[in-house]
Amino acid sequence: MRTILVTGGAGFIGSTFVARVFRDRPDWRILVLDALTYAGNLGNFEPGMRDHPRFSFWYGDVNNLTLVDKLVAQSDLVVHFAAESHVARSIADDRIFFQTDVMGTQAVANAVVNHQDRVERFVHISTSEVYGSAVREPMDEDHPLLPSSPYAAAKAGADRLVDSYVRTYDIPAVTVRPFNNYGPRQHLEKCVPRFVTSAILGEPLELHGGGGASRDWLYVEDCVDGILACLEAPVDRVRGQVVNLGTGVATSVADIADTVLSIAGRETPRVSVGERPGQVHRHIGDARRAHALLGWAPRTGLREGLERTYRWYEQNRAWWEPLRWMRRVRVRLPDGREELH
Ligand SMILES: NC(=O)c1ccc[n+]([C@@H]2O[C@H](COP(=O)([O-])OP(=O)(O)OC[C@H]3O[C@@H](n4cnc5c(N)ncnc54)[C@H](O)[C@@H]3O)[C@@H](O)[C@H]2O)c1
Repeated sequence: MRTILVTGGAGFIGSTFVARVFRDRPDWRILVLDALTYAGNLGNFEPGMRDHPRFSFWYGDVNNLTLVDKLVAQSDLVVHFAAESHVARSIADDRIFFQTDVMGTQAVANAVVNHQDRVERFVHISTSEVYGSAVREPMDEDHPLLPSSPYAAAKAGADRLVDSYVRTYDIPAVTVRPFNNYGPRQHLEKCVPRFVTSAILGEPLELHGGGGASRDWLYVEDCVDGILACLEAPVDRVRGQVVNLGTGVATSVADIADTVLSIAGRETPRVSVGERPGQVHRHIGDARRAHALLGWAPRTGLREGLERTYRWYEQNRAWWEPLRWMRRVRVRLPDGREELH
């Protein structure tokens, strides 16, 4: 048996990862550490897994050094997802982003240093947001880091912190920079679930700045494939590497809205609302390194992924109904006004 610690495992990508590991790695014991913020949800764990001896859930903060150290000490593998993750929320109130995303990563990485005799691999989940808007396309791992929101800045701090720990302490860390994930169980504050639930509810779809911003959209199960590949590749091949996970295809937010509406078969209108401050306008990933190092490539086409996502939300209304009130965040605009985003 190997033991894997998953921080933030009750969130969107973390819970998809945990479900996959539980299903496909029967000789791995899973420890989940999660503070169950507004974004964490115990309902993301299937009952059959929750009660299984291979799974244990630890309610706690990644900034609890004693608890993190105790859990890392028992782990062969560590995957660090825990973070505050919503750009708009970071514009409204960013202090917690630096506390969780930077200091929390320091806590986990430091525990990995302390238990290097046990930990074989530490996968840190960064984000493509660290790049900001593309100054060249597609964006490879050497693209300059130009974070344009407090969230992205906090994640960039954590990303560089892990890199510095590789150079200083030679920890077996890999940093993954996924592009925009979407799929089942994503919080309603994020773009795709907002569109999907608005389409289901027959509401207008709200597009920031007209929806002209384009992104590289990655289906969450493909992201999980890439993270597993980072855990299982020979350590000498991946130690200290930074790896993008993206599709290399840019699609505008307006096109995502249109695809969702066509899947829904609805005439629901689209409405343009104010642009988000610090908006990333163009974002498209170059994942050639992930392919070369890990043999990874995304498997899910955009329409197929959006269809699966739409069906999940259609069939799991009880999961998302209580989150409806959290779809919008009040953000401060540069001119001092406040707007719901
Ligand atoms: N969703 C995306 O498109 C995307 C893309 C690239 C990278 N990422 C990164 O992937 C990771 C997971 O993203 P997600 O979309 O699943 O986020 P999420 O917001 O759905 O989940 C975050 C999880 O972390 C937990 N958490 C928050 N603060 C914590 C703390 N102090 N201690 C312990 N647990 C805490 C929450 O309870 C929640 O379960 C994050 O690091 C995020 O930055 C996300």
